[in-house]
Amino acid sequence: MIQSAPKERVLIFDTTLRDGEQAPGASMNAQEKLDIAHALERLRVDIIEAGFPVISKGDFNSVKLVAEHIKNSIVCGLARCIKKDIDAAAEALTSAKQARIHVFLATSKIHMEHKFKKTEDEIFQIAVDHVKYARQKCENIEFSPEDASRSDKKFLYRIIEAVIKAGATTVNIPDTVGYSMPAEYGQLIADIKNNVPNIDKAVISVHCHDDLGLSVANSLAAILNGARQAECTINGIGERAGNASMEEIVMALRTRSDFYGCDTNINPKEFFRTSRLVSKYTGFAVAPNKAIVGQNAFRHEAGIHQDGMLKNRSTYEIMQPKDVGFTLTGLVLGKHSGRHAFNDRLKSLGITLKPIQLDKAFERFKKVADKKKQVFDEDLVAIVEDEVKVFHEAWSFVRLESKSGTNIKPNVHVVLKSKNKSYEKEMTGDGPIDACYKAIDAITKMKGQLLDYSIQSVTQGKDALGEVTVKVKIQEKVVIAQGTSTDILEASAKAYLNAVNKVIAQALQKK
Ligand code: KIV
Ligand code: ZN
Repeated sequence: MIQSAPKERVLIFDTTLRDGEQAPGASMNAQEKLDIAHALERLRVDIIEAGFPVISKGDFNSVKLVAEHIKNSIVCGLARCIKKDIDAAAEALTSAKQARIHVFLATSKIHMEHKFKKTEDEIFQIAVDHVKYARQKCENIEFSPEDASRSDKKFLYRIIEAVIKAGATTVNIPDTVGYSMPAEYGQLIADIKNNVPNIDKAVISVHCHDDLGLSVANSLAAILNGARQAECTINGIGERAGNASMEEIVMALRTRSDFYGCDTNINPKEFFRTSRLVSKYTGFAVAPNKAIVGQNAFRHEAGIHQDGMLKNRSTYEIMQPKDVGFTLTGLVLGKHSGRHAFNDRLKSLGITLKPIQLDKAFERFKKVADKKKQVFDEDLVAIVEDEVKVFHEAWSFVRLESKSGTNIKPNVHVVLKSKNKSYEKEMTGDGPIDACYKAIDAITKMKGQLLDYSIQSVTQGKDALGEVTVKVKIQEKVVIAQGTSTDILEASAKAYLNAVNKVIAQALQKK
């Protein structure tokens, strides 16, 4: 019998909470970051970069919180080559079961001259000194020569050799501005392997940005040439055009392990759920055609394709939707389904609720099932996400009535509840949503400024659930929140009210 060679392991370093959060408008609060960290742990990510502790009190506290709770993944904090950055990272990581400090310093001519006004030798010494300093505080040290792909190769070899001698256990080669081409980047990794004498003492890592849409291709080219850690984010979110997407790298390695001879320890069945969570907390919708986790990634529209699929799925399918957590069982539940069936279905989607959460979610499911004949898995996920709040709900939505039309000034009557008491208000506005938000402002006495609004349907059909995402500024805080309903205005009201509740919960947490 021919035995296939064992696959080499590629470590997955997730930076959704650090580089991902650097995406304009993607900021998350500490609780949301912890939820994502738990989801990453369920995915079996090897290293979670939880933040940049020195940058703000909020970042410090979230890295600390993640370090306190995550046990199965290494928790990493970012630091510049500055002692106070390294001190902050070490302190935030004190209670981590497994900790890593990631220090970085730019090595390209452009950065050294314009950002630092320093020579190669000065940069070399700063890097070595700070890796040594970090190593005194933590055994697991990663060093990144920022803008490595535009750095002089000889200088890169020299600095990499020195930081490994100084104690770096991982050397990360960032394509910081997404400038490299796959063949070129693969060659860079091969050259580093061949020209850095002590390279076998460290893991080579890759970190690619998507400015030219090549981040995943570059990461894979690097792996083909010997890199054994890939830095990436869920849904590919990140600075500017984003980082390489974890789900794409992992599924490429898995689907084409015959080609790469590598695999990861990731449990891909968690991808869909984690992707939804990141999208919900950042407010960044996942494009329907996004590879692996987009709603259309496994849908076949053309007649010829559907015919082929019916004859044999492998005609047009290289991965199965269930492999990445899509269940797509078609019709699942309806208005006659009981609580037991509802709970069973949630469990098979990997969702376990506390009894009180289950009550709320089931009550909401019944209301949705009354309006919508067929309740799909995607609807269930949206219902649960909408109903099971991670924060205290100061105000809950009761109902609304609206009048609007051509030549009618929109008028909305909103009823909310707080501490078992009902409050109502009727307002007019430039449109029904404006009137509705004015009524919520008047009841809650929280003046919000709507910065962004988007709506997406959860499933197809005229009776589909609509999911509204809002970005609202309330009391100088910018929050992102969602609401779902078969009625667009109701979904809009719920999303706005969730934003108000988030701000109240954040203020309570600080007390
Ligand atoms: O893109 C980059 O160079 C970075 C470094 C901090 C690794 O994010
Ligand atoms: Zn980056």
